[in-house]
Formats: sequence, structure tokens, C-alpha cells
Amino acid sequence: MTKTQVGIIGAGPAGLLLSHMLHLQGIESVIVEQRSREDIEATIKAGVLEHPTVELLKELGVGERMMREGYVHNGIELSFGGKRHRIDLPELTGGKSITVYPQHEVIKDLVAAVLANGTTIEFGVSDVSLQGIDGTQPSIRYSKNGAAQEIQCDFIGGCDGFHGPSRQAIPAAIRQEHLKVYPAGWFGILCEAPPSSDELIYAQSDRGFVLVSTRTPDVQRMYFQCDPNDSVDNWSDDRIWAEFRARLANDDGWQLKEGRIFQKSIIAMRSFVCETMQHGRLFLAGDSAHIVPPTGAKGLNLAAGDVVLLSKAIVDFYRRDDRVGLDSYSARAVKRVWRGEHFSWWMTNMLHDFDGEDTITRRFRRSQLEYTVSSRAAAASLAENYVGVPFEGWQG
Ligand code: FAD
Ligand code: DHB
Repeated sequence: MTKTQVGIIGAGPAGLLLSHMLHLQGIESVIVEQRSREDIEATIKAGVLEHPTVELLKELGVGERMMREGYVHNGIELSFGGKRHRIDLPELTGGKSITVYPQHEVIKDLVAAVLANGTTIEFGVSDVSLQGIDGTQPSIRYSKNGAAQEIQCDFIGGCDGFHGPSRQAIPAAIRQEHLKVYPAGWFGILCEAPPSSDELIYAQSDRGFVLVSTRTPDVQRMYFQCDPNDSVDNWSDDRIWAEFRARLANDDGWQLKEGRIFQKSIIAMRSFVCETMQHGRLFLAGDSAHIVPPTGAKGLNLAAGDVVLLSKAIVDFYRRDDRVGLDSYSARAVKRVWRGEHFSWWMTNMLHDFDGEDTITRRFRRSQLEYTVSSRAAAASLAENYVGVPFEGWQG
């Protein structure tokens, strides 16, 4: 039996960040993670860090490599009707930008910091279950190398992503869940090629959406909208490049730079919010409580916003026996979540064409795109959301 103040399930961005923020305030935690360290440090996911996330990571002392190796982007391009239109982020937001720095690099930086704090991360655990969350002494039970283990704690941070056990530990009758499944997925590739553009391109076309993103000067990340039930085995490299070329056809003579594809995957698109982010001594943060379609690049950044509020609430409890932050956590966190949810849904609808749509929906989409690139007010609204609305309760 191990004892700690906060037991955390999941070593994703939410769990690692929570542990590190608590440690900086003198509160101890233990993390349990079902996968290996090598696995979590190699899984390809997000790429875009919002302005508030970047400032937070710097402030927490885990931003040094991000500052050195990440790429600050001062704009994005919206492409439609064969033309590209630039959204100037700093100009529209009073100087803010985004940083392209892969999620697995954030994970490496956070794992190193958490281990250097002297915090235990139990990798490779199974059969994780939550006990006694209604009482004052909850615990996390799990197996490691065939042996049953238990962590007794004051609070549990449920940071185990969409499929983890934490959300399920809240009685179904209390959970208010909102779900939208999109009839499309994203086919993501990593390839060896130079960047095709200095900035990310979000492209709408009659054949579906394309995102041109980047990782390093030699590795590019790109996505195209696909059938969520398709298989990567149906897509040869030649077929993938032909699809990108068809969707990115333009009047500017601009061409995508192609290269060897070394990773292919298909991701589903969902909007999901569990409005109860707390039950008894269990607090959900990140994808365990909410999922966005990837179009707005919001998922990791929403997880960071939750953790800012949750860590402060836990600190207030230990320092001053003040429970206001804990009691209001769910209601406060979900406000920023809904902003990110709405923005991601809005971007998704503006940029994807869905099978079976009527012609009026397609005309609305084009009008929305034209308005967004021609009205300063509309562009500023996109930019303000894209660079990230401020975290509540944190001055960065
Ligand atoms: P996760 O990263 O899912 O971490 C949860 C952890 O819990 C995992 O390590 C998992 O192994 C562990 N776990 C699960 N079950 C158990 C269990 N039973 N026991 C123990 N451990 C368990 N977001 C952005 O902000 N910007 C982007 O540009 C962006 N692009 C994306 C592109 C793609 C292709 C994808 C897939 C996602 C993207 N996202 C993006 C979303 C982002 O990756 C997620 O929102 C983010 O990972 C959420 O972090 P988390 O810590 O809440 O959950
Ligand atoms: C990336 C992913 C996103 O969802 C997005 O909106 C922008 C960039 C990426 O993986 O690079």
C-alpha cells in the first residue's frame, strides 16, 4: 500500500502537468499509467500549442526545449476556391501566436520533470480501478507484474483519456454527457520532405478537407478528410499524394512538396463533453471529460486549462482548508471547455464537406469562409480562439 496526497491515473499531458504543478506547490502525487514510458514518448498526436499553453510551460520550467526546438507561427492560411488567404495571428490578437511542437516532445519534457521531482510514475500497470471516491479516503487499485497494488490518497486526478476508467467511475445517473460523432475522419501522415509552406494551411475543397502542418525542416505532418471506417491499407503512397494534389489544386502555382511517407493513421472525429467533471474526491481533467474534433487544435490545450484550475483548487484546500475551488471546479472548467468545443465544431463545419449535404449548406460554408477572410471582425474572432482564450485563474 502506497500513500500520497493526489493519486493520478494517466501520464498524458493532463496527468503529467497536474503532478508537476502540484509538486511546485509542495503537494505530492503518484501517477499510474498503463503503457510504457517508451510508448507514451513515441505516440504521435497533437502539434499545436496555444499561446496560454506555451506561457504556462515556460512558467513551470518545462519550456526550454520547446522554445529551442518548437516553431512559432504568426499566421495560418485558409485555402478555398483555389486561393489561399492569410490570417495574421499577432496582428489580430494583440501580439499572440501559436507554437508547433509535437505532443510527444511535451510528454518527454514533462516525464523528465516529474521524475526529477522525485515523483513515482508506475508505468505498465493494468486492471486500474477507483475505490471510495464518495468518502474521504479514496484509493486506486491496479496490478503491476502480476501483483495487486493500491495507492491511498486524498484526491484522485482522472487524467486517463477518453477510454480510461475514471469517467465511468462517476455514476451514470449523475453524468450529463453530450456527444456528436462526425461522419468523417482524418487520415494523418508523416513524411520526409521539406516544408511546403511557412505556416499551416487549412484547406476546404469539394473533395474534402486538407491540413498541411509541419514537424521539423525534414519531417512534415499532413491530414486529409476520409471515411472514418476506411483502412490505411487501402491507401498506397501514390494514391495519398494524388488525393492531396487534387484537393490542393490552386491558381497560384503553389505545389505540395512530397516525400517518403513513414507513418499513416486514421482518427475519428467527435465532440464530447461530460458536464460532471467531479464526483466526490474524483476530478476529471483533459480527454477523460471532453473530446474535440482535431480541426481547431484544441485538445491538449483544453487539458492544460483544466489542470490550471484543478491544481489551484487542490493547493487552496491544503494551504487554507479552502474548498471553494474544489467545489466549483467542474462548473468553472467546463466554461472554457465549451468555448473550445464550439470553436472546434465551427472550424470543422466550415472546412469539411460531408456526404449527403444539401447545396444550401455548401453555399453557407463558402459564404462563411469568404466572410472570415474579408472581415477583420470575423478574422479576429477566429484568431482569438485559435491562439487560445486565457486560462481562468492564471495570469501568464
Ligand atoms: P491522453 O493524452 O489520452 O492521456 C491519457 C493517458 O492515460 C494515456 O497515456 C493512457 O495510456 C492512460 N490511460 C488510459 N487508460 C488507462 C488506464 N486504465 N490505466 C492507466 N492509464 C490509462 N490537441 C491539441 O491541443 N493540438 C493539436 O494540434 C492536436 N492535434 C491532434 C492530432 C491528432 C492526430 C490527435 C489524435 C489528437 C490531437 N489533439 C490535439 C488532441 C490531444 O492529443 C489530446 O487532447 C490530448 O492527448 C489529451 O491529453 P490527456 O492527458 O487528457 O489524455
Ligand atoms: C496539427 C493538428 C491539428 O489538429 C491542427 O489543427 C493543427 C496541426 C498537427 O498535428 O500538426
